[in-house]
Amino acid sequence: MHLRVLGVGEGDFVLASSFTFIGSVSAILYQNAKPIFVDSDESWNISPLLLKEAIRLAPKKPKALIITHLYGQLCKLDEIIAICKEEGIYLIEDAAESLGASYHGIQSGTLGDMGVYSFNGNKILTTSGGGMLVSENEEWITKAKFLSTQAKEDTLHYEHKEFGYNYRMSNVLAAIGVAQMEVLAVRVDRRREIFALYQKHLCSIDEVQFMPEIQESRGNRWLSTLTLAKTNPLQVIDALEKENIESRPLWKPMHLQTLFVDSLVIEDGTSQKLFERGLCLPSGSSMSDEDVYRVCDTLKKALK
Ligand SMILES: Cc1ncc(COP(=O)(O)O)c(C=O)c1O
Repeated sequence: MHLRVLGVGEGDFVLASSFTFIGSVSAILYQNAKPIFVDSDESWNISPLLLKEAIRLAPKKPKALIITHLYGQLCKLDEIIAICKEEGIYLIEDAAESLGASYHGIQSGTLGDMGVYSFNGNKILTTSGGGMLVSENEEWITKAKFLSTQAKEDTLHYEHKEFGYNYRMSNVLAAIGVAQMEVLAVRVDRRREIFALYQKHLCSIDEVQFMPEIQESRGNRWLSTLTLAKTNPLQVIDALEKENIESRPLWKPMHLQTLFVDSLVIEDGTSQKLFERGLCLPSGSSMSDEDVYRVCDTLKKALK
């Protein structure tokens, strides 16, 4: 819906991080627009260099860029914002995973033209489902509210000139979310502590490399994630599963999805390698230190 508010329509091009969850880019298809996927760099997030290349090679000027702050870690926003301003491309931050993370002390999702958040059950703060759109542009927000509530005209009777959606969040769920905002900082601190514990206990293993944090930022470590240089992550996922510990591979990049075989992509193999070598560890804010040690011990055994 955010792309519709920005005037993206059929045949338009929209740039997007390839290394993300499908929810980030489905909006492009809803508009019958065409994605141009951009690969990651050493930050695991979108590469500003490849982004420039994608803009240069695009068949027509892209209207918007959707970036994902992957696993709660921030993209290189200074460079990305500069590119979007110079090229006249709208910037949408997918902050679904990065609520409570910040860049130069500013909350993720509030640095682009629009920010989107998710309150799905697996997020740092949850209303069981639903999300939020933010922007400083009042006109866009008014239009988004209109579209998200079935596009009813401002008349006493039910008058419709265009189609809308039933995307509103109930006030009961919103109240549950607002109440949790009070503990957001505590949850971010705990997720960062859990990450620090993993790092401390696993950093001596040569083949383990954790997702980095760029200097200007403070990520929320929504998930603690790493890559393994030698061992097949699927073998480790299996070993953890046997101990009743859930873990997952990293997101499969969009340009490798069957759905997007015909889409344009600017890639250098980075996100594919991350997908093949990566692992998401249990990271819930309610994990105890002992829970984390148990994961570490099981993982160490699996790597021997
Ligand atoms: C990066 C990203 N974007 C979008 C979504 C979709 O959010 P929702 O499930 O609230 O639609 C998710 C997660 O679920 C996500 O991780």
